Amino acid sequence: MGSVSSSTQWERLIEEGYQRLNTNPSTPEELQQLKQFFTSKPNGLFARIQQILREAPPEEKRVIGKALNALRTAYQERWQAWKTVITQHAEVQAFPDPTLPGVWTTLPGLTPCPSHPLTATLNQICTIFMRLGFWIAEGPEIETDWYNFTALNIPEDHPAREMQDTFYIRVDDPPVLLRTHTSPVQIRVMEKMRPPIRIIAPGRVYRNETVSARAHVQFHQVEGLYVDRHVTIADLKSTLNAFARQFFGPATRTRFRISYFPFTEPSFEMDVSCTLCDGKGCAVCKRTGWVEILGCGMVDPAVLENCQIDPEQYSGFAFGMGVERLTMLSYRIEDIRRLFQAEWHWRVQPPVHVPVSPAGFHQKMRPEEEKPTEADKKE
Ligand code: DAH
Repeated sequence: MGSVSSSTQWERLIEEGYQRLNTNPSTPEELQQLKQFFTSKPNGLFARIQQILREAPPEEKRVIGKALNALRTAYQERWQAWKTVITQHAEVQAFPDPTLPGVWTTLPGLTPCPSHPLTATLNQICTIFMRLGFWIAEGPEIETDWYNFTALNIPEDHPAREMQDTFYIRVDDPPVLLRTHTSPVQIRVMEKMRPPIRIIAPGRVYRNETVSARAHVQFHQVEGLYVDRHVTIADLKSTLNAFARQFFGPATRTRFRISYFPFTEPSFEMDVSCTLCDGKGCAVCKRTGWVEILGCGMVDPAVLENCQIDPEQYSGFAFGMGVERLTMLSYRIEDIRRLFQAEWHWRVQPPVHVPVSPAGFHQKMRPEEEKPTEADKKE
């Protein structure tokens, strides 16, 4: 074998290896096939490269050996992640879908207690992302300004840091506050875990806002973070599109508008086609046919560096969505305050638009039967 053809051959095999590492098995059988592909003898990928290494001229041996070792290490990392995901996947599949209608457990004549709309929406979001291979992570609601702001690249003079916008518990040494978003969980996770990292972080956040129909001092977000080798905007878009179609229904369209967040570059806002009017324009979508549901972007290299993750080797995407907003859209609730009033009728009377299953619940919505509300008329 000539040295030119053998060198291109081993390079091709290494490349093929990395391509396979980027796939995700979804069943134990696929996991076994991947293992076979890499480690079986004599035809597995490692064995084939080893064979070329043995026959290579001395000056090439070092290069091939180094590439093979790097691929082996990457394989071992992925292997651990795959195994964990497959195990969690099996658990999720076995877990009853929390959004299915409840079983009648009370006496006849009494309506069984449904989940609070926020809880049902939160469960639904988590279930969809867990099926996409995301883990659930949690962080504290009381944070330091390092996690809430500095590590996320939010500059000293950013308005969010003002007392008018954030609830401070202690002003100095170091400042301590009620977290204003779930993004600090990104930092806490990246400090502890090495890529591949794929988590969502649901939780409560606080802002010093005047309470109104649209804003509250407390609300919920779900943060998402995916960091690995070769993560691109295509991964971000396909993941969030998959989420939108499962949450709002298969015909949902999405669009990504360029935006700005200090911790992502580039940053986007994602809109979904308004499922209430089918994109034709109504009061909920302010006649635009589109509804904004989340902020997202590619993790800024400075943020990775703050967590000792090498941005030359790894990239990632992140997103954050408001759970109240999704709940209000699903249930056609127009005043956010209703969600925090412990309303008696949540318990005894399910709302009209109870989510039934992630894919199908919007079929339950009947916008054409809805009478215009006072808010609609004012628009
Ligand atoms: N933390 C942002 C907020 O509360 C939302 C957000 C935007 C989260 C972009 C992200 C992101 O992870 O990439 O407004």
